[in-house]
Amino acid sequence: MRRKLVAGNWKMHGNHKANAELLAGIAAARPFGCDVAVCVPFPYLSETAVALAGTDLRWGAQDCSAHEQGAYTGEVSVGMLAEFGCRYVIVGHSERRQYHHESDQLVADKAKAALARGVTPIVCVGETLAERDTGQTEVVVKRQLSAVIHTLGHCAGEMVVAYEPVWAIGTGRTATPEQAQAVHAVLRAQLQAATAHAATMKILYGGSVKPDNAATLFAQPDIDGGLIGGASLKAADFVAICRAAG
Ligand code: 13P
Repeated sequence: MRRKLVAGNWKMHGNHKANAELLAGIAAARPFGCDVAVCVPFPYLSETAVALAGTDLRWGAQDCSAHEQGAYTGEVSVGMLAEFGCRYVIVGHSERRQYHHESDQLVADKAKAALARGVTPIVCVGETLAERDTGQTEVVVKRQLSAVIHTLGHCAGEMVVAYEPVWAIGTGRTATPEQAQAVHAVLRAQLQAATAHAATMKILYGGSVKPDNAATLFAQPDIDGGLIGGASLKAADFVAICRAAG
């Protein structure tokens, strides 16, 4: 049986005071029956590491460079993230694919850079509304995942995958459990064809997960937890979602 993972993606939110309250609220609700992580903006990694030290809660970043080091102004390497104790890094979030024009191959290279430093990439895939409406969902998510599988090679089994339909992110319009499960099953089958570890790999769902819909989503056979945006910014909501995962 796969242990579930609930990861918060704070996106570009937070300040010292709010972060301290949020992290304390999550830590106070332990223990959880699932793995729990928060992916915070880079400047807050240090205080997050301090706040969560000695707990079983994990933290991570929301992006990384594909390069190890060098003249890449504004980028942050995985080696730097590792120094702050990051367990995870989100790569290929749709907001980065869309606003920063990240290609499937760049996302794959970032995932490879993460694993090379022992940081687990949470690789996001997902279709836009136009793609869903024209029946391209499977083709799109398989293309996105395929680039990562090929680039990671025998390490592919070490990533976490997150299915985030773009039309469900921040819109309040969640995929139904059946819609999400259908895509997760496609992704699991694709992983099965590529790695011996597919059965133990986590595939998270993200997109308007809230306390009132988390349990039915997490009850689906191929949904192994969630990547949570808006609801990860309120301790009570995030904790409720973690409880729904186990
Ligand atoms: P929301 O939960 O706010 O829809 O965001 C989902 C997401 O993008 C997580 O990475």
